[in-house]
Amino acid sequence: MNELKNHPDIFIRDLYQEYQNWSIDVEKEQQLLLEYDRIVLQFPFYWFSCPPLLKKWFDDVLTYGWAHGPGGENLKGKEFMIATTTGGAEEEYRVGGRNMFTVEEYLRPIEGTIIRCHGTFLPAFTSHNPHDNILKNEAKRYAKHVLSPKEG
Ligand SMILES: Cc1cc2nc3c(=O)[nH]c(=O)nc-3n(C[C@H](O)[C@H](O)[C@H](O)COP(=O)(O)O)c2cc1C
Repeated sequence: MNELKNHPDIFIRDLYQEYQNWSIDVEKEQQLLLEYDRIVLQFPFYWFSCPPLLKKWFDDVLTYGWAHGPGGENLKGKEFMIATTTGGAEEEYRVGGRNMFTVEEYLRPIEGTIIRCHGTFLPAFTSHNPHDNILKNEAKRYAKHVLSPKEG
């Protein structure tokens, strides 16, 4: 997150900081979504999914008639990307590995949510176990991915 702060076009918010009482300001969140072209959802992998406040953010903000359903096309043309860190090593996230599935497979429910809301789901960024020795490089790789996700 700190690495992204070096880029003036990127606006950063921390939902856990913003909503310590878990009462999400839906109108404000929807307004912010309208203002930005590419929305990166960054989180540590918690039980093969996102942490609960982000799940609540989906539930509260992506409303029927606004994000989906009749007249709900406000997110059409928006790009969404997941950026996650895992405790588990890369080789654990595959068929035959300890976690059996890839991170992309675990992220399918969020992908489905974005597609249902007419967004474009960009390739995710995953950093496996980014301990201190590799954090600096991983941060640079992350910033590059956020700015050009299709170059892999
Ligand atoms: C409640 C909880 C659940 C977690 N679940 C997973 C998991 O399912 N898979 C995994 O690889 N790591 C899991 N972890 C490890 C975190 O993903 C890891 O500590 C985190 O990505 C490191 O980033 P951080 O320094 O920002 O916390 C979990 C950690 C916590 C606290």
